[in-house]
Amino acid sequence: MKGVIFTEFLDMVDAQFSPECTERIVAKADLPSGGAYTAVGNYDHGEIVSLVTALSEETGVEVADLVHAYGYYLFGRFVAAYPQFFKGVPDALTFLQAVETHIHSEVCKLYPDASPPELRCETPERGVLIVEYRSDRGLADVAHGLICGCVDHFDEDVKIKRDDLVAGTHVRFEIRRRSH
Ligand code: HEM
Repeated sequence: MKGVIFTEFLDMVDAQFSPECTERIVAKADLPSGGAYTAVGNYDHGEIVSLVTALSEETGVEVADLVHAYGYYLFGRFVAAYPQFFKGVPDALTFLQAVETHIHSEVCKLYPDASPPELRCETPERGVLIVEYRSDRGLADVAHGLICGCVDHFDEDVKIKRDDLVAGTHVRFEIRRRSH
């Protein structure tokens, strides 16, 4: 998985816990890469799992909560780093629908060694979007956090229903606008 996913994670730990905490979890996680990530490098996705597990042991916060919080944080970083993907996009549902077709596809052009997850979208009715996440990496909690970050970024009032079809690796999210 691309180094940016790891560097952003370590930045979040720096900011939300402390740089000392980051050093401790990198040491504890005993990473094949040694934890020296570059944004364009490619690393085993298992390292993010080792880092999160170490952070959970260090802080006492549940792994799923940390991964979700990371997804939420990551969305804010994407907003800052990739303003071109947000130009003219009116709302969260429109944005989410474009992730697979416009954003992850661009990521693959930029980095041929990337393999983003499958995010199949469906709009069964107005104001409702189904996002079906599939990836062997099992990072549905990251996807969940990203979706929540996206909804808050666009300041929308939605209800998110999550169904784990296969825990963590195949998950269906229903994002439904609340009517006023
Ligand atoms: C501006 C918006 C976005 C950008 C620039 C972006 C970019 C990326 C990049 C670079 C990766 C690493 C791919 C790799 O190394 O193989 C990735 C992975 C991922 N993306 Fe996105 N993404 C964006 C939005 C989203 C959104 C909104 C979701 C959720 C619905 C999402 C879900 C994921 C997940 C869960 C992964 C982890 C890999 C996996 O689960 O297999 N992304 N994305």
